[in-house]
Amino acid sequence: MSLSAQTPVERRITALIARMTLAEKLGQLNLPTYDPNAKPSQSELVRRGLVGGFLNLDGADATRNMQKTAVEQSRLHIPLLFGQDVIHGYRTTFPIPLGEASAWDPELAEATAKFAAREARAAGLNWTFAPMVDIARDPRWGRIAEGAGEDPYLGSVLAAARVRGFQQYILATVKHFAAYGGAEAGREYNTVDMSERTLREVYLPPYKAAVDAGVGSVMSAFNEIAGVPSSANPWLTNTVLRHEWGFDGFVVSDWTSVAELRAHGIAASAADAGRLALAAGVDMDMVAAIYVDSLPALVRSGRIPVAQVNEAVRRILRAKFKLGLFDDPYRALPEVPQDKALARRAAQESIVLLKNEGGLLPIGAAAKTIAVIGPLAADTVNPLGPWSGRSRPSDVVTVLAGIRERAGPGVTVLSAPGTGVTDGDTSGIADAVALAQRADLTVLVVGEADTMSGEASSRSRLGLPGAQERLEQAVEATGKPVVLVLMSGRPLVLSWSAEHVPAILETWFLGDEAGHAIADVLFGDVNPSGRLTVTFPRSVGQIPIYYAEKNTGRPAVEGQHFTSKYLDVPNTPLYPFGYGLSYTTFAYRDLQVRKARLGTRDTLVVFVTVANTGTRAGTEVAQLYVRDDVGSVTRPVRQLQGFRRVELAAGASQTIEFRVPVQQLGLWNQAMKYVVEPGTFHVFAGSSSTAELEGTFEVVGVRP
Ligand code: BGC
Repeated sequence: MSLSAQTPVERRITALIARMTLAEKLGQLNLPTYDPNAKPSQSELVRRGLVGGFLNLDGADATRNMQKTAVEQSRLHIPLLFGQDVIHGYRTTFPIPLGEASAWDPELAEATAKFAAREARAAGLNWTFAPMVDIARDPRWGRIAEGAGEDPYLGSVLAAARVRGFQQYILATVKHFAAYGGAEAGREYNTVDMSERTLREVYLPPYKAAVDAGVGSVMSAFNEIAGVPSSANPWLTNTVLRHEWGFDGFVVSDWTSVAELRAHGIAASAADAGRLALAAGVDMDMVAAIYVDSLPALVRSGRIPVAQVNEAVRRILRAKFKLGLFDDPYRALPEVPQDKALARRAAQESIVLLKNEGGLLPIGAAAKTIAVIGPLAADTVNPLGPWSGRSRPSDVVTVLAGIRERAGPGVTVLSAPGTGVTDGDTSGIADAVALAQRADLTVLVVGEADTMSGEASSRSRLGLPGAQERLEQAVEATGKPVVLVLMSGRPLVLSWSAEHVPAILETWFLGDEAGHAIADVLFGDVNPSGRLTVTFPRSVGQIPIYYAEKNTGRPAVEGQHFTSKYLDVPNTPLYPFGYGLSYTTFAYRDLQVRKARLGTRDTLVVFVTVANTGTRAGTEVAQLYVRDDVGSVTRPVRQLQGFRRVELAAGASQTIEFRVPVQQLGLWNQAMKYVVEPGTFHVFAGSSSTAELEGTFEVVGVRP
C-alpha cells in the first residue's frame, strides 16, 4: 500500500513500526500466559516492549496495573491485549455451547455472548478465545462440547451470532482454524486428513461466517490437515483466510502450537518452527515465546524478511487501534449484576426431551413423593461444564434444589447420590433404590463429569461412566416411573436407557441456572423446545455418524446383503440431528415452493404450515432441508438450509416462510470451484432431519 493511500490509522501504524526496534516488533507478536513467578518478571518484559498481550491475566486491578506499565513505562507506550477463554460465560455461566446450540436460537447465542463479554470487560479483559466453531461429527472428541455440533449451516449462523455478541465489548477469536474437530478416531490433537471438498463444504463455512461477521482474530489449530499442520499452513491462512475471504484481522497460534511444529516433524528447531509459522501468516505466538526469542537472529541474517515481521506487527497494532486501546488503554466498565434471568432462559431452551413415553412428563400433582437420585442430583461443580472460567459452584442451582423449590411443601422430596460420577463404588445403590421404592416417581440425575469433555478429554466408550449404569438398572428394576436427567458434554450411547427408561431429558451442562431450568421443564412450566444439533449414535461403532451423509453407490436396503450397512446395528441413529420432543405435538402441511424454476441469483421461497396439534402451547423448531438430486460431484442426502423457532398456542397453526438464496445451494465441483449447478432439487420441511413432507424445484441457469 502506498503511504498516501493509507488511512490516518494506517499512517500512525506505519510511523510506529518505523520507530520500533526488531525486539519491540517481535515483542508485539509475543503472547505469554500470565505467570506471577516468571524470571525476569513479566512486567519487566512489558517495560522492555517484549510482550504484545497476555492470556489468563484478568481482574480489573491486575490488568489496569499491567496496562499502566505498558503505556507509561515502555518506550513506545503500546497498550496490551488481555485475552482469556470466555467460552460460555465469564462470571455468570450459561450452558456449554453444544447445549446452547440446541436452542437453535441465534438471538439467544448473541445475547449470552454479549453478556459474557460485558462481564469480562469489567474484569479488564479485551479479548476472548471464542467462539469455537469446529464442526464435530465424532462424539468421542471431547471438544464437541465447545462447538455447535455437526452442521455447517447451523454452525455458521451461530458462529456469526456469537461473534456479534462478543464484539460488542471485546475482540472475538474464531477457532480452531481449521478442521480441528475432524481428528481421526475422535482422539484429541490427532491427524486430520480430508478432501479439500469436504473441508470447504463442511468444515470451513463456520469460520467464514465468523470472518464475514467481522471477527477480529483467528486461532490456528493444533492439528495437521493432509500433512500440513494448521499453524504453519500458508494455503489455509494466507490463501483461503486472507486472500479468498478478505480477513483483515490477525492470526494467533494455539497454546504452543508453533513449538509443536517440531513434534509434528516439519521443523528441526524452535527457530525453524517460528520461521514456518510466521511465513504461513500466524502473527502471534501463544505461550511458546519462539518469535520473541528465536526469530531475531533469522531476521538479522535475512532468512526472514523484515517485511514479513512488519506485516504481522501491523495486524496486531491495527487490532489494538480498532479496539480503541490507543485512545483509552483501560476501556474500563463497572461490574454488572449477574444476569440470572438470561442464564435461566438459555438453560431452558437448551434442554432436549429425547423420550416421553405415555406422557410421563410433565410431573403432575399425583406425584406426592419424588426421589431425586444420582451423583449429579445435588452437585454444584459439574453443571458448570468444561471452561467454567470465573464461575462459582456456589452460584449453581442444583437439580435437587430446583425440584425442591418448585415442588413446594406438599411434596416429599427424597434424595441420595447412589454412586459417584466416575468411580466404580456400588455401595450406595441399595439406599438409593430404597428411596425409589418409596417414591411415586424417580428423577435420576446422571451423566458425565465436567472434566470428561472439553480439551484432551476424548473417550472411546460413550456410556454412563463409573457405576451409574448399574444404578440406572437397579432403579429401573423397581418398576416405578423413572425420568432420566442427563448431563453430558457430548452425545452418549443411550441404547439401554432408550429401551427401558420412559422419559429422558438431555440437559448438557447448563451452567448456574441448571436446577431451575430443569425443574421448569420437569414440571411443565416450560415446554421443552431444544433440538439436537448432533446425531446420537446407537453404538460407538457407527461413528462418525451424521445426517448429511452420502448415498453411496449401494444405499442400505433391508434384506439385501451387498448394500452399505452393518451386520449388527441399523444405519439409523438412536436420535437424529434436529430431533427433540415437546409436551405438545406439531404437524406440517401444505409445503409450497413459490417459484418452482429458479435462476442461480434467485431466492428459493418455501411456505409450510406448522400446526400445534396438542393441548399445550409450545415452541417448534421448524427445519428446512434441501437435496441436490444430481450433481457433478456426489451430494449429501439432504442439508439443512433454514430453520425457524415458532411459538404456537394449543390448536394454533402458522404458515411460515423460508427464504434460501440459491447461491447457498452450491457445491465445490471437480475443478474445485464453487458453483450452483442447474438441475432438480428436493426440499423437505419438518421437525428433524428425517422430515418427510417434501417438494421440488429446479435451478435453470442464471435467469429462467
Ligand atoms: C486451547 C484453546 C485455548 C487456549 C488458551 C488451548 O489449549 O486449545 O482453545 O483458547 O488453550 O487457553
